[in-house]
Amino acid sequence: MKLLFIGDIVGSVGRKALKNVLPGLKSKYRPDVVLVNGENAAHGRGINQAIAREFFDQGVHGITMGNHTWDNREIFDFIDDEPRLIRPANFPYGTPGNGYMSLKAAGKDLLVINLQGRTFLPPLDCPFQTVDAILEREGGRHQYIFVDFHAEATSEKIAMGWYLNGRVSAVVGTHTHVQSNDNRVLPGGTAYLTDVGMVGPRDGILGMEQEGVMHRFLTQLPSRFVVDEGKWHFHAALIELDEQTGLAKSIQQIRTDEDNYISE
Ligand SMILES: [Fe+2]
Ligand SMILES: [Fe+2]
Repeated sequence: MKLLFIGDIVGSVGRKALKNVLPGLKSKYRPDVVLVNGENAAHGRGINQAIAREFFDQGVHGITMGNHTWDNREIFDFIDDEPRLIRPANFPYGTPGNGYMSLKAAGKDLLVINLQGRTFLPPLDCPFQTVDAILEREGGRHQYIFVDFHAEATSEKIAMGWYLNGRVSAVVGTHTHVQSNDNRVLPGGTAYLTDVGMVGPRDGILGMEQEGVMHRFLTQLPSRFVVDEGKWHFHAALIELDEQTGLAKSIQQIRTDEDNYISE
């Protein structure tokens, strides 16, 4: 079973990149499941229903979110009616939406779990205890289990990888928007990557215009961050899972940009 996971899609440039790249990736790798992180899809902040639909129409099977989940208020209009979009599971009890979803993958059941870290991010419920509870409830019914751990600190993400080693198919991080180079299959059979990266403006600062971010660093004054325009880059990971064990055979990064992309 092949799973393609695409990093945080940032704004209209990111959405354009997805339209450009996804068809070629699908014909080249033939993934059974395509997942994207959508927390920055609407002008860099949150997502709305039209954009979620656009992703599904392009062959995306599930959308995960993160700390920007609530930035676009339109999400409250549809999150409870859209089982293919999830937000971090360790948000407070009673928060709208779900923290995990079940999908079909090559005829078997895939559990997708979204968690958020607590280091340099708002204090949420414990992501480790939260994932334990979900696995206890849902794990046995699913052949494959994929975790998007949306977190800032590399140490917290690596800890989650080892914590879930052998218990899930893959742990892949999001949120930093920078692709890490530590893809590996852990000894217990869990595919791991600290951060998958992003899809969006290549020459900004994590997707935002240089100017506003630079101004804040230089002056320590508040400044408005605006999504950058211009050329895109595209970061994803391709994970191959064993259909007998549900564990990982391989994980590889995919990284391309507008100047180097050759349509397959
Ligand atoms: Fe993000
Ligand atoms: Fe984030």
